[in-house]
Amino acid sequence: MSFKEYKTHVEMGDTVILYLNIKNIHAITVSEEVKNKKGNMVPNIFQTVYGALKVKDLIGMKYGSQVQMTRGWAFALHPTPELWTLTLPHRTQILYTPDISMVLTQLELRPGSVVCEAGTGSGSLSHAILRTIAPTGHLHTFDFHEQRSRLAAEEFSAHGLGDYVTARHRDVCGEGFDLDSVADAVFLDLPRPYDAVPFAKQALKKSGTVLFSLLGGLNGKLR
Ligand SMILES: C[S@@+](CC[C@H](N)C(=O)[O-])C[C@H]1O[C@@H](n2cnc3c(N)ncnc32)[C@H](O)[C@@H]1O
Repeated sequence: MSFKEYKTHVEMGDTVILYLNIKNIHAITVSEEVKNKKGNMVPNIFQTVYGALKVKDLIGMKYGSQVQMTRGWAFALHPTPELWTLTLPHRTQILYTPDISMVLTQLELRPGSVVCEAGTGSGSLSHAILRTIAPTGHLHTFDFHEQRSRLAAEEFSAHGLGDYVTARHRDVCGEGFDLDSVADAVFLDLPRPYDAVPFAKQALKKSGTVLFSLLGGLNGKLR
């Protein structure tokens, strides 16, 4: 699975970033067939402005190489958290790479860090956290929206990141994190983050850091 480590060639089940141009980038999962709207399995053909791509033809290609389609060409790129942020299915507002860089730096994350995140949202920040803390760290990510939490968990697992993350459906402002003195860092991207601060304190190790986003800015850091 391609998010966990870099590899040279595309394999079945990989997420490949199909780069047509700066405004036209797609994440596609490599499979021979997909379910159509009627629930029947049909050949996986991906339609783009440059024509159709038989997705199974990506198998065996070198990442970074040019892909011929019926009316033009694209590049098949290896996935990264940055490219995932540009292509993921939006279920919420998300954090983008410039803010994510600031969050990772302010939280002083490194391989081995244990992190609590709420809410999970669309998993944009989560993917960047996971790259930073793997393979020895762990992300505990929480969302009080059941479907968002479940879909994010499915994506983490499809991307080979399931061992490094626990996604839970939980209201962290009302119920807390259900964790005691384990986290190096807590990040809160939700309305009324201050309601979760006492719970964050309980989840944190003595040396931990809490950072929160308020009204779209990154404006709180507590040690
Ligand atoms: C702006 S989104 C987070 C986006 C995420 N940082 C990303 O980059 O994809 C905020 C999320 O917080 C969740 N949320 C709001 N209040 C919450 C609470 N009290 N406990 C858990 N999740 C909460 C919402 O359901 C929503 O999915």
